Amino acid sequence: KEKIRIGLLGLGVVGSGTVSLLQRNRHAIERKIGLPIEVRRIAVRDKSRPRAVKVDAALLTENAYEVIDDPEIDIICELIGGVEPAREYVLRALQNGKQVVTANKEMIARVGHELMEEAARRNLDFQFEGSVAGGIPIIQPMKNSLAGNRIEEVIGIINGTTNYILTAMAEEKTDLSTALKEAQSLGYAEADPTSDIAGHDARYKIAILASIAFMSRVNVEDVYVEGIEHIEAADIAYAEELGYTIKLLGIARRVGEDRMQVRVHPTLLAKNHPLASVHDVYNAVFVRGDSVGDVMFYGRGAGSGPTGSAVVGDIIDTCRNLRFGATGRVGCTCFERRTILPIDE
Ligand code: HSE
Repeated sequence: KEKIRIGLLGLGVVGSGTVSLLQRNRHAIERKIGLPIEVRRIAVRDKSRPRAVKVDAALLTENAYEVIDDPEIDIICELIGGVEPAREYVLRALQNGKQVVTANKEMIARVGHELMEEAARRNLDFQFEGSVAGGIPIIQPMKNSLAGNRIEEVIGIINGTTNYILTAMAEEKTDLSTALKEAQSLGYAEADPTSDIAGHDARYKIAILASIAFMSRVNVEDVYVEGIEHIEAADIAYAEELGYTIKLLGIARRVGEDRMQVRVHPTLLAKNHPLASVHDVYNAVFVRGDSVGDVMFYGRGAGSGPTGSAVVGDIIDTCRNLRFGATGRVGCTCFERRTILPIDE
């Protein structure tokens, strides 16, 4: 192979972060891969929209199939979000023999198993580090570095918007809607911020983490969810007086061999817990393994640069695999059935 060609679906917050990182660090990235790379085509919804990154207008197309079906393209990066048409595009890309990188949490949480099975059947890479906690490496470490452990629990602050809001309510006594507007202006909130506030965004992410940690297929709808919409400044002040802070946590815990708890809700956290000092838009994931003990991953959980970092990491990994012919690193394809316990157990 002389060159690796990449096709992007989407050039929004994550897509522009990805392209601008590939442009900025291109030489170092190519040295790490050992081959030149080229962004060959980018599918967008509206070509006339202004972009946060400078790209040759000739690369843009409003027809996603011109990217997915381009025989020259080796890797498809799906960065449009949502289940459809993203699932259909990714499936077709895999059927066309292309490696896939995605940052799409809802698609992975809902239909990831179907796509992973397709990738595994075809011996293709399918990577999704950017789907959980933006720039924080968590999927790769759980699939690889921590794979020898029996994971006992995973607890995360995995939604930047609500963590920003809770921090602002605690520190500046800001109300929820003002803090939400600030988080939106930072490019953190979802297009429809209800998904952040009501906990659905965190629910997709904990479902993905639980699937990997416990090698299980977690049905998103079985995950208990409660958002921060009813939290008031007074609740936070009262918690503070008692030595606690309120955080929206995603919790996945092993209960015996074949049962687990997976849930999202606001939680009173003792101020000396390592997750209690995770403020603003930062995310953190705390993992307990039987050999490693406690490890915590901390960083920016969303936004253009951080999520672009995760996507480019996956692209580099995939490029190396392509170069050395080591494809098929899908990771988890063996999912066992486990029961998710109801919230009161
Ligand atoms: N809306 C999400 C957040 C973006 O606030 O964390 C990253 O998935």
